Amino acid sequence: MRALPPGSKLVIATHNPGKLREIADLLAPLGLDCVSAGELGLPEPDEDAPDFVGNARIKALAAATASGFAALADDSGFSMAALAGAPGVYSARWAGPGKDFTVAMERVHAEAASAWDAGGDRRAWFSCALCLAWPDGETATFLGRVEGEAIWPPRGANGFGYDPMFLPIGGSQSYGEMPPEEKHATSHRARAFAQLLARGLGRADGDDTSEDGAEH
Ligand code: IMP
Repeated sequence: MRALPPGSKLVIATHNPGKLREIADLLAPLGLDCVSAGELGLPEPDEDAPDFVGNARIKALAAATASGFAALADDSGFSMAALAGAPGVYSARWAGPGKDFTVAMERVHAEAASAWDAGGDRRAWFSCALCLAWPDGETATFLGRVEGEAIWPPRGANGFGYDPMFLPIGGSQSYGEMPPEEKHATSHRARAFAQLLARGLGRADGDDTSEDGAEH
């Protein structure tokens, strides 16, 4: 196992400010010297893998190789059962070039038309794959997932992305209504992070994936 002691530099391989905030909150107790790929001006690699783990690995390896520091990437998305798991790895792309998630949520609403009928299948989930990569190419990946229900119309102005149309199982508030601290403590990202932290920030065996729930 390779550890990252307090004070180590860690590149957070994201250009998404919403994710950066959530990741910074989750890493705060470790006392790492975090810097984002955006702040370092690193290029955004093509995320062309078919699954969350593959995309997280692409982003983490690109940032670790380009910066010479350990890098942590997250690939995540929203899925609906009625859409066979879409938008899934295409969650960001459904928002279009303007990155407008009102557009993305409206597309989910339109494409999952049968879900909104009485008795329709509204099952939905958020998935998060985390990949920690070192400049020599070693990687470790972790998966987290939260199950819930898609709701329409969207509710709440907190969070980002698809948060307003997701009601976690057993909850009464959508992710858009929930106070950020509560979401950050229970989200798919928090679950993936719990595994990362439990393993002491990654293991030495490069191909291993730790999973909390199945990946879709
Ligand atoms: P990527 O991981 O940067 O490719 O983007 C994943 C996309 O999934 C984000 O742009 C969001 O639209 C969506 N997403 C991932 N996690 C969350 C979340 O916690 N809340 C809302 N949307 C999310």
